[in-house]
Amino acid sequence: MSKWFCGSAIVLMAAITIGVVLRFVVLGDTAPADEDGRQGVRMSKSETRFVLAEMRDFLAGVQTIYSATLRQDRNAIAEAAAPLGREVAAHAPAGLMGKLPLGFKRLGFALHEDFDRIAKMAPHAEMVTIQKEVSDSLNKCVACHASFRIETE
Ligand code: HEC
Repeated sequence: MSKWFCGSAIVLMAAITIGVVLRFVVLGDTAPADEDGRQGVRMSKSETRFVLAEMRDFLAGVQTIYSATLRQDRNAIAEAAAPLGREVAAHAPAGLMGKLPLGFKRLGFALHEDFDRIAKMAPHAEMVTIQKEVSDSLNKCVACHASFRIETE
């Protein structure tokens, strides 16, 4: 095999690897921003159902956590926060991660980590500290909703 051939094969493989990482890790499967400026993320019907169900769980979760801080109910805080942690992301449909652009994944993972942290804080932290953590997390909901919409295929 000539040196030239080996060199070309390496360059080609590197290009393919970069292409795959770019498409599945950084870019995802997106549609251009519409009039309201939100980028579309293309998903199948079942992926859309999964993501929206997760969203409704987020909303129900923050409501439960917030009202539990008002009652100082530490068990209820931990029980509501734990299922919204990183663990849930592991149950995402195969292929969905590759469709999400990097900014979406960053915000999503950071939010799951916030809920893991809230669950860990629940037994000992001041209620106002937990409320501050919930308030900071809500900024991630706001940021993602301002940037992305779902485009169901
Ligand atoms: C990583 C991005 C991201 C984060 C973080 C995020 N969302 Fe969403 N959410 C979306 C997208 C995208 C939609 C669909 C919007 C659209 O297509 O118009 C959505 C939709 C929703 C819906 C509508 C559900 C339905 O059944 O139609 C609710 C409720 C919701 N989000 C709540 C939340 C709450 C509460 C948080 C924070 C605790 C949150 N989301 C964080 C991306 C995100």
